[in-house]
Amino acid sequence: MNKKIFSGVQPSGNLHIGNYLGAIKNWVELQDKYDSVFCVVDLHAITTPQDPEELRKKTIEVAKIYLAAGIDPEKCAIFIQSHIPEHTELTWILNTIIRMSDLSRMTQFKDKSRAISAKAVHKNSKGEIIEEKVMTGELLGGRTNKNINVGLFDYPALMAADILLYDTEVVPVGEDQLQHIELTRVLAKRFNQKFGETFKIPEAGVVKEGMRIMGLDDPTKKMSKSATSEYNYIGLTDDADTVRNKIKKAVTDSGSEIKYTDDKPALKNLINIYSLLDDKKPEEVVEKYKGKGYADFKNDLAEVIIKFLEPFQEKFNSLSDDEVLGILKKGAEKVRPMAEAKMKEVKEKMGLI
Ligand code: AMP
Ligand code: TRP
Repeated sequence: MNKKIFSGVQPSGNLHIGNYLGAIKNWVELQDKYDSVFCVVDLHAITTPQDPEELRKKTIEVAKIYLAAGIDPEKCAIFIQSHIPEHTELTWILNTIIRMSDLSRMTQFKDKSRAISAKAVHKNSKGEIIEEKVMTGELLGGRTNKNINVGLFDYPALMAADILLYDTEVVPVGEDQLQHIELTRVLAKRFNQKFGETFKIPEAGVVKEGMRIMGLDDPTKKMSKSATSEYNYIGLTDDADTVRNKIKKAVTDSGSEIKYTDDKPALKNLINIYSLLDDKKPEEVVEKYKGKGYADFKNDLAEVIIKFLEPFQEKFNSLSDDEVLGILKKGAEKVRPMAEAKMKEVKEKMGLI
């Protein structure tokens, strides 16, 4: 029997080449070797505010991105998280064994809860508003905003439920998700110890270079869907001119030589993107640009990205919403029996009649 893999992406923000190189590209390579389940995690997306119409659009868009990247619905199951209610049901069960301290340690929670803004409203004695101020993470002085929703705090329990429902053995994700997978392992072991062998202990599967693609405008932070500047990322739906413009504006380090070292983080990141998309080792890229300057390298990098994006976008645009919804429905029917069987086992073990 093949090993099982599970992974997912949230239908929020703009999917970028970091998502592709850090996660989705890896899935395409794994689908032949593993029993694969790929999910559009809409219930995770709503842990931060989403416009309903936009959420619907993005959910279909993420599924199209999976398909355009080469995920084959004949080989894998692709489905929408909220179509399988067992995900939320198991989350509740896990909530009863997860500790506040487990969740408080999560760096993604700390980052996201700081980033969310708080509104300060000052009223006079008559109750009239005299000042309204939106306080961003910076104004809050890096303190955690206490007004964030419980869902954001509990996000890792839902992610653990996603993984554990399907006896997942490998979870291919970018480096930023490692802490969540580690917590999933702890929860699985804790449950098994208390109620008997129920869950497989999953492992993370990461590709080294793709682990963390950094922002084009700031190589100290990861390329991010929710970045405030569009110059942070190359979107998977960006057109050729946008790509050329963004790469031209991408920050580089001082100097002029093409080098692959940690003290040139901006350049290192661009070389990583080049080498992953052009199937070359970073050293080969460096060798190719020996004696050439940043401008030559950047011009070619833009073309390498465009060469990848063009067929990708062609496939993406050829998919109709109805076709994709059909695939997602079929995917849910494929995984439903597994989710139901696991939930039944969990309930029995715990004494829920
Ligand atoms: P998210 O954008 O947080 O929904 O992430 C979706 C997937 O893409 C996860 O597996 C992440 O680890 C991966 N990912 C997100 N941003 C990056 C990045 N900048 N570099 C590499 N992988 C990333
Ligand atoms: N938390 C992941 C992210 O932000 C998305 C995700 C949700 C996921 N459930 C998952 C990834 C289960 C892997 C397995 O990228």
